[in-house]
Amino acid sequence: MKENNAELVVKTLSKHFGALRAVDEVSFEVKRGELVGLIGPNGAGKTTLLNLITGFLSKTKGEVFFQERDITSTTPDRVAKIGIARTFQITKPLVGMTVEENVMAGALFGRAGRPRSIEEARKKARECLELTGMLDKKDLSVGQLTIPDMKRLELSRAMATDPHLLLLDEVMAGLRPTEIDEALSLIKKLNETMNITIIFIEHVMRAVMSISQRIIVLDHGKKIAEGSPEDIARNPLVIEAYLGKKYMERRKSNG
Ligand SMILES: Nc1ncnc2c1ncn2[C@@H]1O[C@H](COP(=O)(O)OP(=O)(O)O)[C@@H](O)[C@H]1O
Ligand SMILES: [Mg+2]
Repeated sequence: MKENNAELVVKTLSKHFGALRAVDEVSFEVKRGELVGLIGPNGAGKTTLLNLITGFLSKTKGEVFFQERDITSTTPDRVAKIGIARTFQITKPLVGMTVEENVMAGALFGRAGRPRSIEEARKKARECLELTGMLDKKDLSVGQLTIPDMKRLELSRAMATDPHLLLLDEVMAGLRPTEIDEALSLIKKLNETMNITIIFIEHVMRAVMSISQRIIVLDHGKKIAEGSPEDIARNPLVIEAYLGKKYMERRKSNG
């Protein structure tokens, strides 16, 4: 079976919203320990794909396997317990709680088999906040955070669940170039030294190209390309999806 060496297997996954095929028969595999970039123009279906994998949305069609286990019909809380964590493009903090309490919630509701006391959860939360550079903001209420800090909080909370597989939805949006470099080295560190398999959606092309081992490209719900950063950067279908047909035609007519 092909599933056997894979961390994640997605088979002909589809989500239709009425007539709109937000995700259209998408299939791919991610190996254990891989760092995979997921790109595509706005509205390509990237966030919907993460929502399908994590059980936040019901599937129109298709199957999902995680570590050989069929998780097609699973729920978000179950997904977290088996070791898949995610961040949200539109951040979803627990309002009225502090930064630390938000991350503790991740530590308490994460991967099964690791029951934690409140004090253990606090310790884990602080480790994760340290990792993301948010420890000095642990006592702030989440309402006081800037958008980049909100993204760091999301990442801290995801890490506190001890994931095997981490799904990141535009965690670098709104960051300054130096902050992007920090985020990139953090993602690499999570992948390389903590052995976490990562799929990350990102618009900052420099970021995707620099750290992805492999890139998957969606456009209008379909997977249009998959390959190394070098292959993706020169793939005509990808260039066309980003820059539009007009650009390609102009390039051709200019020789
Ligand atoms: N809950 C929903 N109901 C209806 N349409 C949706 C819903 N969520 C997403 N869409 C549509 O599905 C398409 C893909 O959206 P999305 O997955 O958010 O794209 P991306 O993350 O690649 O920008 C878009 O056309 C979007 O408007
Ligand atoms: Mg999105």
